[in-house]
Amino acid sequence: MSTPKSFHAYPRFDFDLESGLPRKARKSSSLKMLKSFGNRFHHFYKMHPLLVSLISLSLGLTILIGLSLYESRFKTMGYRRGDEVDLRSGSYPFKNLRNLVMVAGHAIYTSNSCGKMESEDSWFLEPYQKHTGQAATFVSHIRDGVEIAAKDEGALLLFSGGETRKDAGPRSEAQSYWAVAESKSWFGNEDSVKSRALTEEHARDSFENLLFSVCRFRELTGSYPQNITVVSYDFKEERFAHLHRSALNLPQSRFFFVGTPATPTAKEAAMKGEASVRAQFLEDPYGCLGSLHQKRLKRDPFHRTVPYPNGCPELKGLFSYCGPVPYPGSLPWTQ
Ligand SMILES: *[C@@H]1O[C@H](CO)[C@@H](O)[C@H](O)[C@H]1NC(C)=O
Repeated sequence: MSTPKSFHAYPRFDFDLESGLPRKARKSSSLKMLKSFGNRFHHFYKMHPLLVSLISLSLGLTILIGLSLYESRFKTMGYRRGDEVDLRSGSYPFKNLRNLVMVAGHAIYTSNSCGKMESEDSWFLEPYQKHTGQAATFVSHIRDGVEIAAKDEGALLLFSGGETRKDAGPRSEAQSYWAVAESKSWFGNEDSVKSRALTEEHARDSFENLLFSVCRFRELTGSYPQNITVVSYDFKEERFAHLHRSALNLPQSRFFFVGTPATPTAKEAAMKGEASVRAQFLEDPYGCLGSLHQKRLKRDPFHRTVPYPNGCPELKGLFSYCGPVPYPGSLPWTQ
């Protein structure tokens, strides 16, 4: 057996890549210096191998400690920025807005071809929602929300609703409603309303539409809404204005409800369904036990982590509360 020879893939002399011709060796003085330094280092290493190892070791350790200190400091700053500095500095994008107008989402717009918003085929609908005229009711909620906000310069308009349907893909009800408003040119109110219209993209039921939107309002304005107007179906008024409002202990005098009727064909089933949901919220006002809780899990097919109560730290207790009786803690709007 012959001893393996080292193999050089490239010629050892300097090679000019462009011309393919060997280049004349042209050592610069800095290269010479580097080389002589290398020689000296090599010599030093031969004389004191232990010392050199110790020096390199301590150099490495210093760099490591420095890096980890930098990282932990960086992390702390990141935490503060999100949770403290922002809230204290008062730098909110909508500081001047006082009132909340919330449009509760009911479905997701799924048309690929930008089909008609008033057509049922353009929306992902549950079997109980498949009625002629159903899509038009969503559009009228959007229009009402926009028009109410247009009449009140101090209002923030929020479309609320999460990615609630698996087969509709990862698109939220809130985004759907915003997109409809946009494509309808904000019903003639673009200049006044568009910049004050945002989304709340995590709610999975009507209780969360209200609670999450209040939290989102705080996140955007730095304070809690003075007046709240909810836009939904007229048959849901009792649910929003009584059950949810009182579960959150929101003052009645500052709570308003604007409802539109269900389609005639949907009405009877809708009323029946509503009575059943109302009964469940009556026993479980926070929607966190039994069937209402199950419904929430089902309406979160993509496991979206709820970001709240980040953005509304005063509501931390309320967000973690679950029980059949009203939340006993104090709330910013009851003080
Ligand atoms: C809240 O609504 C009441 C009743 O309409 C009104 O008098 C009051 O000015 C509103 N507050 C704000 C901040 O708009």
